[in-house]
Amino acid sequence: MANERVYIFDTTLRDGEQVPGCQLNAQEKLTIAKELEAMGVDIIEAGFPISSPGDFMAVQLLASEIKDSTICALSRANLNDIDAAAAAVKHAKRSRIHTGIGVSESHMQHKLKLTPEQIIERAVMAVKHAKNLVDEVEFYAEDAGRADNAFLAKVLENVIAAGATILNIPDTTGYCLPEQYGEKIKYLVNNVKGIEKAILSTHCHNDLGLATANSIAGISNGARQIECTINGIGERAGNTSLEEVVMIMRQHAHLGLDTRINAKKLTSLSKMVSDMMRMPVQANKAIVGAHAFAHSSGIHQDGVIKNRETYEIINPEDVGVDESSIILTARSGRAALKFRAEKAGFIIADNEALELAYAKFLTIADRKKVVDTEDFADIFEQIKR
Ligand code: KIV
Ligand code: ZN
Repeated sequence: MANERVYIFDTTLRDGEQVPGCQLNAQEKLTIAKELEAMGVDIIEAGFPISSPGDFMAVQLLASEIKDSTICALSRANLNDIDAAAAAVKHAKRSRIHTGIGVSESHMQHKLKLTPEQIIERAVMAVKHAKNLVDEVEFYAEDAGRADNAFLAKVLENVIAAGATILNIPDTTGYCLPEQYGEKIKYLVNNVKGIEKAILSTHCHNDLGLATANSIAGISNGARQIECTINGIGERAGNTSLEEVVMIMRQHAHLGLDTRINAKKLTSLSKMVSDMMRMPVQANKAIVGAHAFAHSSGIHQDGVIKNRETYEIINPEDVGVDESSIILTARSGRAALKFRAEKAGFIIADNEALELAYAKFLTIADRKKVVDTEDFADIFEQIKR
């Protein structure tokens, strides 16, 4: 049976770009957007046009240049925001406005100072207004993760009736456990009138390190769009990582879900975003970290040299990494030293030669942390090349 499609909504250029120091100019946004488009991202959230003239122009530029991805602009639930968003995406081949309002007790009482009825009125007004201006309207129920499910369902019924066709259920504060978030999506699938006319979307923050797990719980319970960013960048502890959810669906075929992402582009795009936003990727980051396919302990190295699959569930080539790497440290074994030496052109005649070289290697490794090919001349000085 064919896999069901999950739409990838990339918000690197909006939620990701909100991170202090990650701001991009219009040309930089366009460079990244072209790569997102080429990789197969369905929707690119290009920015928040009302926030600054520079961001308005950036969204406008992406709208006129990007053809294969929908271009989406963020707005709050007010007319000025929506008009700015609509003007910015006007020339997009396919345009979307992402508008919404807080629906948790905390947001309604403390931030917005509105009653639940007023929240529904504002939400409906915003969706109706946006609906006349763009191809499609996505509604976000901000802080849905902490909101009462029955009230959330009521808000969604009203915005569906007003014309929203994509419903974003953000775990804005990264509060939910995967089973809670999954249950919330299931509740909405079963209790919102008109839900068959809309796509439910996940937008999970990583405050407890659960953004990816929550997004997967969401799609396992009926959501069909994931909002995510390259390298998981975003407000505070970040958003769901695009590369993680894409590869989870590929690794777990039994989910019966897939995207149209060309995963071979993940590593280069991760590097591009990291370089342009000056935001380093932690070495142990899943899929795109420098150590994601690097092996350094003797036990693991011995296994990987015999068969890569002993310690790797993903073929590095599938995500655009040439090959797994064997890193030489004081925890490495003889098999790793021999493997790397032979790759560099050194022929180790017998066990005796290997023992001699290994003893020398360990003294250097204890001193240097990582032993490089440049150290080989020293290690193998008695061995002919
Ligand atoms: O985290 C959030 O709730 C958001 C919304 C604006 C979608 O980023
Ligand atoms: Zn967010």
